[in-house]
Amino acid sequence: MSNATDNWWRSAVIYQVYIRSFADGDGDGTGDIAGLRSRLPYLAELGVDAIWINPWYPSPLADGGYDVSDYRDIHPTYGTLAEAEKMIAEAHALGLRVILDIVPNHTSDQHLWFQQALAAGPGSPERERYLFRDGRGEDGSLPPNDWHAAFGGPAWTRVPDGQWYLHLFAPEQPDLNWDHPAVHAEFDDVLHFWFDLGVDGFRIDVAHGMAKDPALPDLGLTEFSVLTGEGQDDHPHWDRDGVHDIFRRWRAIADGYPDRRVFVAEAHVRPGRLAHYLRNDELHTAFNFDFLKCPLEAGPLREVIDRSITDLAAVGAPPTWVLSNHDETRHVTRYGRAYTGVRSALLDQGAPSDRALGTRRARAAALLMLALPGGAYIYQGEELGLYEVEDLPEAALQDPTWERSRHTVRGRDGCRVPIPWSGTTPPFGFGPPGSVPWLPQPKDWTSYTAEAASADPASMLQLYRAALRLRRAVPAFTGEAFRWLDSPHGTLVFERGAGLLCAVNLSDQPLPLPDACQVLLASGPVGDRLLPTDTAAWLQRN
Ligand code: NOJ
Repeated sequence: MSNATDNWWRSAVIYQVYIRSFADGDGDGTGDIAGLRSRLPYLAELGVDAIWINPWYPSPLADGGYDVSDYRDIHPTYGTLAEAEKMIAEAHALGLRVILDIVPNHTSDQHLWFQQALAAGPGSPERERYLFRDGRGEDGSLPPNDWHAAFGGPAWTRVPDGQWYLHLFAPEQPDLNWDHPAVHAEFDDVLHFWFDLGVDGFRIDVAHGMAKDPALPDLGLTEFSVLTGEGQDDHPHWDRDGVHDIFRRWRAIADGYPDRRVFVAEAHVRPGRLAHYLRNDELHTAFNFDFLKCPLEAGPLREVIDRSITDLAAVGAPPTWVLSNHDETRHVTRYGRAYTGVRSALLDQGAPSDRALGTRRARAAALLMLALPGGAYIYQGEELGLYEVEDLPEAALQDPTWERSRHTVRGRDGCRVPIPWSGTTPPFGFGPPGSVPWLPQPKDWTSYTAEAASADPASMLQLYRAALRLRRAVPAFTGEAFRWLDSPHGTLVFERGAGLLCAVNLSDQPLPLPDACQVLLASGPVGDRLLPTDTAAWLQRN
């Protein structure tokens, strides 16, 4: 049985490796395991506890790898299973745990099961593993219901024999039927496969989507933009209670290992619902998208922080904090805009952004995030201060959103541009000289490389390194103690255990720092015990 005292995951800082864009070892323009292995020492030096690797399985990459065609292998572009095993061992030797991404809501349309379902025809057992239905209308030419897909367009695609199949995302991502025992058995086995290979956990893609109302009733929506099913209780495909049976079964599998194996849920759910996923016989943690989406303003942040901590404390789960990931506009860009939260792609994309301001605020947000109790996620490149690349040529765009929205929403490629490591011209050390990254890098990334940042004491990278060092060294960070201290409007000041304070000034006035405190780390210059606007500091009471 799992060692219940092994609680590393409760406060882990987990670095997200979007493998396609992390480091390219063989020069084909795409990141790979060889590249990742060569950069593991960089991650260990950064001071994170674990890495989460986005899907690295064989896939036609219709949705960047979230369309898996074989759950027990590695995409040939990324390497081999043997290399994956070596990478896991090397990471462990450096003290880094390894979390994989599992995609259970849907497979690729190239997955053997889906190909078998297409070949076997209507009424066959092969079709039962997906959600095939006859169409409506006299000749069945209308989709079985009115559901829309998350990337735009209807959630149903018709196959040549006339039936339709459900896909909540792209047509290349048919949804699995989680009422089918074979689907459960298959994923049990996939979990064992990777756990046996030594991985420490899984990030569960679309954890709130696997259970569907078998009646597949109409939603009555004409526009489908919310991932959470907001405003609708008993939604027919989001956040149904049926998902919890699946996670209980998965938890039992994880707990069957002698050392701790963990799950983190990607679940976009309504306020108050996340805790259900984190009951003590279900998943361990979940991403905190409310925090990511929150405007960088003291009032809303305080509310989200309070709600996150108290909701999850009710089930004994720790909160997590995240500012960016591979699906969202990088926060340097968001925080440089007039509205600093996340609304919708259509409203937010291309809004003017002041990069210097966004960077200053991103530095403050990093100290806020890393001082809060619980776990935290760092998206590759945020430690370099990367901004969203908003001017990618249209011809380079690969996110299915671009096509599915009929070229109205550019999609998520701007945060997925291969990251810069060294040198003064593309590929900036992402791959060997002369290689061409799969998305073009901005020419001005010379000053953003890990090499340049390492040489600059004032860089974002040095701030992250210093913060992560302190997070490990200062005992007050170990527990989950947290309490707000009184502070002026527009500011946040809280205390962790043993006199460790975090002060964040998001007001337009300088914030006087408490007396008898020593500044351990600040996100910007602190003048005469006054914390300037858009600056954060960690303080220790004398
Ligand atoms: C969430 C993933 O983060 C995103 O990248 C993907 O497109 C969808 N799930 C569908 O798998």
